[in-house]
Amino acid sequence: MAAAFGLCNTHSIGATEGNRGSGFSRRAPAIRGTVLSMASTIPAQNEDTQQQKVSGDSFIRPHLRKLSPYQAILPFEVLSTRLGRKPEEIIKLDANENPYGPPPEVFEALGSLRFPYIYPDPESRRLRAALAEDSGLEAGHILVGCGADELIDLIMRCVLDPGDKIVDCPPTFTMYEFDAAVNGAHVIKVPRITDFGLDVEKIANVVESEKPKIIFLTSPNNPDGSIISDEVLLKILELRILVVLDEAYIEFSGIESRMKWVKKYENLIVLRTFSKRAGLAGLRVGYGAFPMSIIEYLWRAKQPYNVSVAAEVAACAALQNPVYLETVKDSLLKERDRLFGLLSQVPFLKPYPSYSNFILCEVTSGRDAKQLKEDLVKMGVMIRHYSNKELRGYVRVSVGKPEHTDALMEGLRRLS
Ligand SMILES: Cc1ncc(COP(=O)(O)O)c(C=O)c1O
Repeated sequence: MAAAFGLCNTHSIGATEGNRGSGFSRRAPAIRGTVLSMASTIPAQNEDTQQQKVSGDSFIRPHLRKLSPYQAILPFEVLSTRLGRKPEEIIKLDANENPYGPPPEVFEALGSLRFPYIYPDPESRRLRAALAEDSGLEAGHILVGCGADELIDLIMRCVLDPGDKIVDCPPTFTMYEFDAAVNGAHVIKVPRITDFGLDVEKIANVVESEKPKIIFLTSPNNPDGSIISDEVLLKILELRILVVLDEAYIEFSGIESRMKWVKKYENLIVLRTFSKRAGLAGLRVGYGAFPMSIIEYLWRAKQPYNVSVAAEVAACAALQNPVYLETVKDSLLKERDRLFGLLSQVPFLKPYPSYSNFILCEVTSGRDAKQLKEDLVKMGVMIRHYSNKELRGYVRVSVGKPEHTDALMEGLRRLS
């Protein structure tokens, strides 16, 4: 059964195992906390050999020694040096960032921070009150994190014992699989079916047979931009499993957030972020809506000062200008439509309709997706290419400003 649904221990991904020393060998016995000082009978040379046997990685938890690092994107400055171009000359369409950045209020607020030398509010009270107003859900249900990424890990730390299972529906955001591996959990993969829809029947079967504790759902899904209907979500909520619905891109979808549903469904958590909608990816602010029965444990387990003073001030300032946020969103949606139309005309690309600020394209006509990405990099245009098996032969392009689309299209035209 496990094999049929792709049950895999993600610990087996990649990396070679390091040197496995067995830790320090004690030289002098300790009695009731006192280290006895004894003349060593070990010749000096032998002591060196003993010391050499100790390898730092012997202290690391075994499942982490086998962990492959997360493949993060390169920082702007590094890219700039590598490509020999100024950062502003790089067309960055590889990480679904918001090229318009945050509203001017954010820069003003950051420039006049009054208490950067004082630890931040561990409860992010100002921001949670603003989010309550923004979302219509009471602040008691809301917890803020250092990006949605931190909340994904925090949820796992609170829910999963080593050896527990989660359900992942690839292709999707790879942090779920990565964090599961960090937390010593197993990943049951239920791949998406036609047009990247969820295989609800298989999900129900694995929940029944494998008893996983969490399922991660993403709407709109990264990388294809598909959304989850109420009907499908309700079917999954009926199952005996904690549903984490990641709405990082919900603002671009035209559908309402399900944040308020956490008052009705005890097994639902909804995650959102300021990274995309508010152009604050660099400041790291995400938030989640939780049932009351769950949130209290996250409060206990979270790092007290996880959201910095700068992050909270910036997020509050961004929410003060909803007109700016709306205008930027509208520009990105307009550009998404234009980009889709232009990509459809490229003879070696098949774009998928998207409800988000990115478009997934299948690379067709015998062209190599990795090569395509690399050729565009040389022209200063960054797009996302995948090496995992579900997405070999695909690239993802973030929606940028009109001039970014123009530069991308010029690059693609030169490669035609
Ligand atoms: C689906 C999804 N969830 C969460 C995140 C991370 O959000 P944050 O920047 O708030 O950590 C991303 C980032 O790309 C994402 O694609």
